[in-house]
Formats: sequence, C-alpha cells, structure tokens
Amino acid sequence: MTTPGSEYRFASSSERDTQRFGRELARVLSPGDVISLQGQLGAGKTRLVQSIAAELGCENSFVVSPTFTLIHEYDGRLPVYHVDAYRLKDSEEFLDMGGGELLNGDGVCLIEWADRIGDLLPKDHLRIEIDVTGEQSRMFRCLAAGPHSSRCLQALSQAIR
Ligand SMILES: Nc1ncnc2c1ncn2[C@@H]1O[C@H](COP(=O)(O)OP(=O)(O)O)[C@@H](O)[C@H]1O
Ligand SMILES: [Mg+2]
Repeated sequence: MTTPGSEYRFASSSERDTQRFGRELARVLSPGDVISLQGQLGAGKTRLVQSIAAELGCENSFVVSPTFTLIHEYDGRLPVYHVDAYRLKDSEEFLDMGGGELLNGDGVCLIEWADRIGDLLPKDHLRIEIDVTGEQSRMFRCLAAGPHSSRCLQALSQAIR
C-alpha cells in the first residue's frame, strides 16, 4: 500500500484516550463503511465500538437476532452494526445470519475478529489492529485498504492532532 495516509497509528494511554479516538473516528465514517478490528481478548475492540456508537448517538440498542447475540444493531444517526465473529464457524454461517445485508447496508459495520470472515469484507475497508502495550495503554494501528478508507484515515489524523 503506497497511498499517502494509508496507515495511521494512535497511541492510547487510557480508556479516555480510546474514547476520544473512537469519537474522532466516528466523525469520519459514512454509510457503508466496514471496520475490521483485530487484537487479543481485552485489547479494547469492544470499548472502541462503544465509543464510536456513542458518538453516533446510539442510545437504544437492540439485538438483531435473538438466538445469536453475535450481531448487535444500534440505532443512531447512522445505524451501527456490531459483529463479534470470534465464535462464527465460517463466512457461510455469517451469511446465514443475514450478515451480508450488514456489509452492504446503510450503516457502519464494526467487526471484531473480522479475519474469520475475511473473504466477505469489501476491498476498501479499514483495518484496525490493537496491541496491548501496557496495563492502560494500547496502540491502535489503522490500515486503509483502498482510496476511501485512506481518505478516512487522513481526515482522522488531521482531526485528532
Ligand atoms: N487504553 C485503553 N483502551 C481501551 N481499553 C482499555 C484501556 N486500558 C485498559 N483497558 C481495559 O481493557 C479492556 C478492554 O476490553 P474490551 O474492549 O472488551 O476488549 P476486546 O473487545 O478487545 O476483547 C477493558 O477492561 C478496559 O477497561
Ligand atoms: Mg470484544
């Protein structure tokens, strides 16, 4: 990837920092955006999703599928689809749950452990790898996979300075 702005790193030294990061990230998102979240258990994937959802005005949440709580939909200024793919068997299972619509929907789709359904992700998505660098500190490494996500990262890096 050689597009300028295709990689951005944010060093968080507290949950508050992560909240700020999520808030700024939310502001540069638009309908149809897909974010893949990677990082060990406890890295902060869910915390980041919560911060994004809060910024997008998601107050009331409801579970899309009552039997599988792997997909949550939050009703905000933009719909937020939150997926935890950790326990998904494969891409087919995700599609059977109606996941395809979320990836092509008019909300933002935030997917923990998205590599499990990597073949379904749109080419131009944002990948965020979270490293635990200390008890309270995290490194968010954001990688843009195409021109649209590159522009998002550029806007993010300018806003967050
Ligand atoms: N800087 C930080 N950013 C995000 N979470 C942090 C940070 N420092 C400590 N934490 C803690 O790390 C945990 C992250 O949990 P969670 O978001 O559920 O992780 P994941 O979804 O990646 O498994 C929480 O217990 C949170 O309090
Ligand atoms: Mg989680």
